Amino acid sequence: RPKLPQYNSIDDAVKLLREAKNIIVLTGAGISTSLGIPDFRSKDTGLYSKLAHLGLSDPQEVFDIHVFREDPSIFFSIAKDILPTEKKFSPTHGFIKLLQDKGKLLTNYTQNIDNIEANAGVLPENIVQCHGSFATATCVKCQHKVNGDAIFNEIKEGIIPECTVCRKRIAEEGLKPQGLKRKRSTNGQQKDRKEFEDSSDEDDYEIPTPGVMKPDITFFGEDLPDEFGQRLIHRDRELADLVIVIGTSLKVAPVAEVPGILPRNVPQIYISRTPVSHTGFDIDMLGDCDVVVSELCRRAGWDLQHQMIPVD
Ligand code: OAD
Ligand code: ZN
Repeated sequence: RPKLPQYNSIDDAVKLLREAKNIIVLTGAGISTSLGIPDFRSKDTGLYSKLAHLGLSDPQEVFDIHVFREDPSIFFSIAKDILPTEKKFSPTHGFIKLLQDKGKLLTNYTQNIDNIEANAGVLPENIVQCHGSFATATCVKCQHKVNGDAIFNEIKEGIIPECTVCRKRIAEEGLKPQGLKRKRSTNGQQKDRKEFEDSSDEDDYEIPTPGVMKPDITFFGEDLPDEFGQRLIHRDRELADLVIVIGTSLKVAPVAEVPGILPRNVPQIYISRTPVSHTGFDIDMLGDCDVVVSELCRRAGWDLQHQMIPVD
């Protein structure tokens, strides 16, 4: 994407901020690290650098839907570490709320699953949680949905949460053979009941187990919520007059493709510690995002609120 030549300095960014009416803010894990929540890919401090003990060929497998279906214990061994807890928020979350208060926030597309935008007072109608969240969870077998906090205690204790609806159904059907699902025999035919009841081989039938409750965060191999594409393509792409990307490495599609599909004449600002090379922004402000947004607000004459719990 060729750079728009008229934008270069911090003051150009301030001018854009002051004049914009419909800002897309695209965020990633970097906006929460000042609160003590690790990002994913930072060397040494990112979550993926701390997962060697799991023995995965790629640490991203903790969020792989196929791995989860095979062995949910891998995800639940780290889930407690990424569960949203206190009601804190960083200056950068405060900045997004400030844009909302000024009537400038079109949409905050967040890849974060920590729900901290809500702590800052960003309204649900202004947020698209591109990678879902812990707000709800769904049974992998019967699709029964619960509020996320219904399984928080189990997650905190490192227990794999199971579906209560599945469990109840199994209890009602009992462990009688007629309640068991017959496995297909090797030639693909179901055994008839006679053969089944006569069989002494335990492997001939499955002991029914309740489904695992999976938090509704978007795993690799799963689709993003429909709202993401709907809102971006059918609404925001037309309306946006400024794009601010903050604290994301833009390594994960399709979110990584957002800057590229927006009209060329809409200016794009990038705020992060690490530059990206695969897409061109008009203004790059490299550094701590809390510091950068504070300086932008100072120059704009805006009062930035935040509520940090110091990281120890
Ligand atoms: P990454 O860890 O890939 O990128 C975070 C970026 O923020 C990096 O460029 C850091 O340098 C930068 N950063 C960290 N702290 C910062 C700070 N205080 N100020 C400024 N910049 C800072 O995280 P994401 O891009 O969010 O998906 O990762 C995208 C997705 O990959 C996640 O949503 C997650 C992950 O796999 C799922 O779990 C499904
Ligand atoms: Zn179920």
